[in-house]
Amino acid sequence: MTVLDIVQADNPILHQAAQPVTTWTPELQTLIQDMIETMRAANGVGLAAPQVGHSLRLAVIETLPERDAAGNPVENSRRLYVIINPEISWKSRKMVDGIEGCLSIPGYLGEVSRHHAIRVQALDQTGRSHRLALNGWTARIFQHEIDHLDGILYTDRLTAPENYWTEEAFEQLSLADEAEEHGLVG
Ligand code: NI
Repeated sequence: MTVLDIVQADNPILHQAAQPVTTWTPELQTLIQDMIETMRAANGVGLAAPQVGHSLRLAVIETLPERDAAGNPVENSRRLYVIINPEISWKSRKMVDGIEGCLSIPGYLGEVSRHHAIRVQALDQTGRSHRLALNGWTARIFQHEIDHLDGILYTDRLTAPENYWTEEAFEQLSLADEAEEHGLVG
């Protein structure tokens, strides 16, 4: 497996709709494995194919660990998803503000309002169809990654232009206390 270069926000590929995947080739399987490797190497929770220079409707997601009653992460509780040609079939009316980062915009964080819960229909790496019901931070990661497939960055969706900070400014403002999982990047 190979760690791929992640393209930065000024690259036009991140601002255009990606193409549906139509054939499950060995090259596609290699790309999926390399994207998982790349996401993990960057400590990300998600990575979309356009971020590694492929204009395809494909993303990998690895959820945050579940927490036990004391708030400690539960071992082996992260879940890995490979989503191909995903469609959001339902969105909750309830919206939640949260802090996001993006591997294509290193060093910055911003506040984005997302649907608390969504349902997603997507194919996996074998071409099998899945219906997923997601909420909370997992639903947020999916919305961030599916946005990438439509050429939308989180900076296009900030709750207000001023709700965008360098990581240093964010720490100085002690906003980190408010944002439980502010390291969220994808
Ligand atoms: Ni991103």
